[in-house]
Amino acid sequence: MTRWDDLKRLRAAAAERHILDLFAADPGRADAFALETLGMRFDYSKTNIDAAQRAALIRLCDSAGLAERRAAMFEGRAINETEGRAVLHTALRNLDGGPVLVDGQDVMPEVRATLARMRGFAEAIRSGAVQGAGGAITDVVNIGIGGSDLGPAMAVLALAPWHDGPRCHFVSNVDGADIADTLRGLDPARTLVVVASKTFTTIETMTNARTAKAWMQEGGGDLARQFAAVSTAEEKTAAFGIDAAHVFGFEDWVGGRYSMWGPIGLSLMLAIGPAAFDAFLRGAQAMDRHFRAAEWGENMPVLLALTGIWHHQVCGHGTRAVLPYDQRLRRLPAYLQQLEMESNGKSVAMDGAPLDGPSGPVVWGEPGTNGQHAFYQLIHQGTAVVPCEFMVAAAGHEPELAHHHRLLVANCLAQSEALMRGRSLAEARAKVAGRFEDAELERQAAHRVFPGNRPSVTLIYPQLTPEILGQIIALYEHRVFVEGVILGINSFDQWGVELGKELATSLGPVVDGTASAAGKDGSTAALVDFVHRHGGG
Ligand code: F6P
Repeated sequence: MTRWDDLKRLRAAAAERHILDLFAADPGRADAFALETLGMRFDYSKTNIDAAQRAALIRLCDSAGLAERRAAMFEGRAINETEGRAVLHTALRNLDGGPVLVDGQDVMPEVRATLARMRGFAEAIRSGAVQGAGGAITDVVNIGIGGSDLGPAMAVLALAPWHDGPRCHFVSNVDGADIADTLRGLDPARTLVVVASKTFTTIETMTNARTAKAWMQEGGGDLARQFAAVSTAEEKTAAFGIDAAHVFGFEDWVGGRYSMWGPIGLSLMLAIGPAAFDAFLRGAQAMDRHFRAAEWGENMPVLLALTGIWHHQVCGHGTRAVLPYDQRLRRLPAYLQQLEMESNGKSVAMDGAPLDGPSGPVVWGEPGTNGQHAFYQLIHQGTAVVPCEFMVAAAGHEPELAHHHRLLVANCLAQSEALMRGRSLAEARAKVAGRFEDAELERQAAHRVFPGNRPSVTLIYPQLTPEILGQIIALYEHRVFVEGVILGINSFDQWGVELGKELATSLGPVVDGTASAAGKDGSTAALVDFVHRHGGG
């Protein structure tokens, strides 16, 4: 018997229950199954979780040793056991906290010194004190991929109202279309290129960096002033030819997908300025403090994690949708896909034994209201239940367009209500009565039935500010950590990306025709042959 069996029994005992029954039985449910902290409200009352089930979920935290693992993370112990590394992205936002020790050494002086250098550099670029060969920097191109791209790219879009620095562009894909389309129209003498790579070996990033270097050289840019690097491999940045004054290092205890709080956030700092960047860090630090101090049942990352565990591991719903009703959070689903799926998409536990249940779920999403006109049909009437995570701000940033925001909020709230409530056959019949009769009425009504009883959670915040964004991202980071601890997973390695990288390296010469496809499987060989017959390679 596994620990999931107990929870599954609890669920089965209430299998026929409707979420609306829970509201009917408990007039205080909306508050009893919601948490307000740090100015945000997390509402999980529209799930089919009752008090006994919540208590059983909370017990998972203790049986998994969550308190010890949390302490081990914040104290710099090597909880990334397969790589023998500490996990200390929280140190990057420990702005006014105490010392953080790794191997007995306080890392905070170095963190503060690097942050101060980033501030100085960002101010110099933003003010025009440091210029390109053709004048003040007008554009920044961040070249990176995965954790060296998604975080800053997402946050630069999210914080557009704070954007008072140079325009920021992000190039990630090795597809030449990405860099070609980005550089077209930019002035090589007034563009700053930031090469962001923790390892400084990632093939996509290094290929794009070399292309950008050639573009700048040919276009009369000044490489010494217009190239910067962000990496843990400072010797490699020197070999690439980047001036040490423009290199911002960090340590291997910052995982790629957790790295936007430090130098990987340089392009964000260039866009919004050091003060707003500080506010972003302060928001995350506030969430760290909450996560460390609050009881499990009053702890927002823990409750968010437990709803995830309930829906995926207990109820067996295969995916979860992240649905920000916030156009500026349009890259958040992609960011969360890496954060959640690269962290918890694993089949073995820390000790190498197979997991005793499913790993983390598939995460996907799009901003509302756009998704409503695309895939919500399936969410409402498809046969698979998709637990939804809605997000929305009480107020937007465009006071003159407040009526837009009211509509946005109404749509967000309407969706979670519709998912929960559904529409019965009797209601559907009433909708079409008068237009159809007899068998045709029954047929038409059947198409208009919504099963309802579909779970969702909602995170609502006053307005999307740098602090609130910091809080939201740290909330999700800790949610992933909690789910990983409960599953027994190491959430901080990513061995699953290695095989494809190795095979791509060996296929390179096959695609360019300098090596034969012999030894490859028939499908791969035939696909390479197609490339060669159609002008590729
Ligand atoms: O391929 C996965 C990965 O290693 C991610 O974990 C990481 O964020 C990304 O590649 C980029 O790596 P780097 O910053 O070293 O270029």
